Amino acid sequence: MEIIEAVRWAPGGNAVRIIDQRRLPAELVTLDIATVEDLCDAISTLAVRGAPAIGVAAAMGLAAVMTPYRSEPAKAFDARLRESATRIRSARPTAVNLAWAVDRALAAAAGVEDPAEVVDLLVLEADRILEEDRRMCRQIGEHGLPLLPDGTRVLTHCNAGALATAGIGTALAPIYLAAEAGRRIEVFVDETRPLMQGSRLTAWELARAGIPVTLLTDGMAASLMRAGRIDCCIVGADRIAVNGDVANKIGTYGVAVSAKHHGIPMYVAAPTSTIDSATRSGDEIEIEQRARGEVAGAIAVPDAVRVYNPAFDITPAALVTAIVTDTGIHRAPYALENMSLEGSHA
Ligand code: MRU
Repeated sequence: MEIIEAVRWAPGGNAVRIIDQRRLPAELVTLDIATVEDLCDAISTLAVRGAPAIGVAAAMGLAAVMTPYRSEPAKAFDARLRESATRIRSARPTAVNLAWAVDRALAAAAGVEDPAEVVDLLVLEADRILEEDRRMCRQIGEHGLPLLPDGTRVLTHCNAGALATAGIGTALAPIYLAAEAGRRIEVFVDETRPLMQGSRLTAWELARAGIPVTLLTDGMAASLMRAGRIDCCIVGADRIAVNGDVANKIGTYGVAVSAKHHGIPMYVAAPTSTIDSATRSGDEIEIEQRARGEVAGAIAVPDAVRVYNPAFDITPAALVTAIVTDTGIHRAPYALENMSLEGSHA
C-alpha cells in the first residue's frame, strides 16, 4: 500500500509540506508552509484538516515559522513566538489536537531564552509529535483489527483516514490493516455534506488503496442499516470528553442514533491526543460554526433564508459502543481523565 503523507517536512526542513486537500480528488498537489498567515489560512480553509493532522501541522508549522528568527534578540523573538502560537492555536476551535500540539511545543521550550536553542527545541518536539502520531495510528489499527472479521461491511462518516493524520488514519487504520491481512472489507462512505470529506477524500484514499468502497449521501445511511447491509460504523473524533462524549464531523450524531436503533456497533477511533482531560462532557466543547457559503454556495438558496452550518456535532457516550485508541479499546462507563497524553489541554 502506497503511504499518503498528508503532513511532512519540506526538503531542507524549513517548511511544513501538506497535501492541499481543498484540491482533492481532482489534483494531488502539495503546499509548503513557512509563515503564520499561510499556516492559519491552510488550517481554517481545510487545506490541512482532520484533528491529528492539524495538530501535527501546527507544531511543525510553528517551528518552521520561527526558524528564520533564530538570530533575533531574545525579547523580540519571545514576543513573536507567543503571538504566532496564539494565532495558530485559535485557527479552529473544536479539534483539541490543535491547541494541545501548540501548547506542547511551547512547553518543550519553556524557560529557555536563547532563540536558536528555542528553535531547535521546537523542531525536536514537532518531530516527536509527528512520529507519535504515526505510531498511534498504527496502534489504533492493531487494537481495532479484531472488530473487523473477514467480510465486514463498515460505514464511515467524514474522513478519518491517512489524509487526516500523519500516519494511516484513525477510523480507517483498522480497515487498512484488515485489508492488508487479506480480509474482505467493504466500506460504505457518507459523502459528508457540506464539504464532502467523505466523497472527495475518504472514497478517494480507499479506492486508491484498492479497498472496495461505495459512496452514499448522508441521508441514505439509515436505510442501508435497516436493509441489514452494515455490520458496524467507525468514525474518528475531534475531541473526546472524559465521560466519553465525542465531538466529530456534523452528521456523526445521526449515524450513531441510527446505529443504536438498528443494534449496530458504533465505534470511535482516535489517538490519546484527542482525549481532552480538561473537558468533562460534550456540553463544554465549542462547536465551530462555518460560513453560509459552504452550504448555500453550491446550490441556489434565496438570500432571505438563514443557513445553519456547524462543522461538528456531539455524540453522547451512551451511543458509543467502544472507543479505540492507541492504548486499547475502551468501553462504557468511560472514565478517560488520565488517558490524554502529556501536555496541556487547558
Ligand atoms: O472539518 P474536518 O474535515 O477537519 O473534520 C474532520 C473530522 O471530523 C474527522 O472525523 C476527525 O477530525 C477525525 S480525523 C482522524
